[in-house]
Amino acid sequence: MLRRNEILVLVLVLSSAACSSDVELADDAQLTRGAELLLPFKRDLKSALVSGLEEGPVSAIGVCKVQAPAIAERLSIDGVEMGRASHRLRNPANQGPAWIGGIMQDYLRSGSSRDPVAISLSGQRIGYAEPIVVQPLCLTCHGQALAPEVARHIEEAYPDDQATGFEIGDLRGVYWVEFPQKVE
Ligand code: HEC
Repeated sequence: MLRRNEILVLVLVLSSAACSSDVELADDAQLTRGAELLLPFKRDLKSALVSGLEEGPVSAIGVCKVQAPAIAERLSIDGVEMGRASHRLRNPANQGPAWIGGIMQDYLRSGSSRDPVAISLSGQRIGYAEPIVVQPLCLTCHGQALAPEVARHIEEAYPDDQATGFEIGDLRGVYWVEFPQKVE
C-alpha cells in the first residue's frame, strides 16, 4: 500500500510531468482506489502461479493460460475492468485498452520511474496502471535461457510469443484497471 506522503510526492512529481503531455492525471484518492482494486487480482494470480509451479513449469504454463484470464474476468464487474498488458506480449489477447500504451512507453523511457499512475478517461472513468517488474521466479518462463521443454510448450501455445529474454528488474508490463469515477 502507498502511504499518504508517498502519494503526495507522487502526485507532485506527476503533476509536473503532466505539463508536457495532454494526459489528465487523477487525484490521489483514485490512485489509492486503483491500487486497492488490483490487490485481489495480484494475490490470486500469484497463488495460481505458485501452486501451478509446484506441479512443474510445464503444468504452470497451462495454469497461467487458463487462470490468468479467468481471474481477470471474475474481478471485472460493476463497471470495473482489469488485466495485465505488456510491450512484449506473450498472449496477443492481453494488449489491453489504448490508454495504457503511453504509460508503458513512459515507464520504458524513464527507466527508473516505477510509480503507479492514475489518469482521467472519457465517460467519467479512471485508468490506473502500475508496473510489473521481472523477479527471479519469472525467469523460468520469461528469461533468457528457458529449459527446452518449457520453450517448446510456450511456442506451441503462443506462436507469436515476444515475452522471453527478460532479466531480473526489467519492466515486464503493467497491471491496469479501469473504473467509474465516484461522484461524491
Ligand atoms: C510457468 C511459466 C510462467 C512463469 C513462471 C511466469 N509466467 Fe508470465 N506468463 C506465462 C504465460 C503462459 C502467459 C500467458 C497467459 C495468458 O495466456 O494470458 C504469461 C503472461 C504474462 C503477462 C501478461 C502479458 C503477456 O505477455 O501476455 C505478464 C505481465 C507476465 N506473464 C508476467 C510475469 C511475471 C512478472 C512473472 C514472475 C512473477 C511471470 N510472468 C512468471 C507464463 C509464466
